[in-house]
Amino acid sequence: MALSIETETWPYRYLRALSGVAAHISAVAFTISVGVVSRPGSSLFSWHPFLMSMAFSFFMTEALLIFSPESSLLRSFSRKIKVRLHWAAQLCALVCATLGLTIISFNKYLNDKPHFATWHGFLGLLTVIFAAFQTLGGITLLYHKLITRWSLAKRKVYHATSGLVGYLLGCTSLLLGMCSLWFTASVTGGSWYLAALCPLVTGLVVMNQVSNAYLYRKRSQS
Ligand code: HEM
Repeated sequence: MALSIETETWPYRYLRALSGVAAHISAVAFTISVGVVSRPGSSLFSWHPFLMSMAFSFFMTEALLIFSPESSLLRSFSRKIKVRLHWAAQLCALVCATLGLTIISFNKYLNDKPHFATWHGFLGLLTVIFAAFQTLGGITLLYHKLITRWSLAKRKVYHATSGLVGYLLGCTSLLLGMCSLWFTASVTGGSWYLAALCPLVTGLVVMNQVSNAYLYRKRSQS
């Protein structure tokens, strides 16, 4: 059975608020850590991990947490403002992701290395393409009169579900990037596991948030 705000017990509510705080900290800490390790500007490659962390760990996580009933930093703002900031942050994420993808592809071209030859490279490409389509889907919600085929409510559920899939793809790409030779040569032992915990925490928190807001609740209403 789905839990509604009214039927949630206080320990469960506190636990969700606490995990929300952990998600904000993880999103920021991961981006800063990757920035410290890669030192953006030190080489062309150095921009790739940094921009991708900005895109998927910082901007995308914050864009989704905006709607969290417990851990949104903008809880007191109207839904309209939250929606605006959500798409602005998603746009920033897509710009960073496109730049990050262009840079790594150009760097591989310069060094005569094969493209999309690793699981990270392949899934990473899929993630950026997915994010681009997800943004297009978001635009059709913004201008919802453009499409009349499905009801707005139904399209919102589709957008949230596919958005969750895209976000989890992003977390997996981040984790696979951390398994690269480049990263494992610089970050080892406990620090590596601590860094790996960040996309895991944000992934679980966002999954819980979206399932509670849309999937369980909509199903229990139907
Ligand atoms: C969700 C975020 C990320 C996406 C979508 C992504 C995407 C990609 C793609 C598509 C490639 C292959 C480009 C080509 O073959 O032309 C690549 C390569 C690479 N990425 Fe990422 N990346 C992400 C995050 C990271 C992070 C956080 C790191 C480091 C911690 C990283 C390290 C690398 C390395 C070392 C390569 C070159 C080796 C390889 O192709 O696997 N990436 N990335």
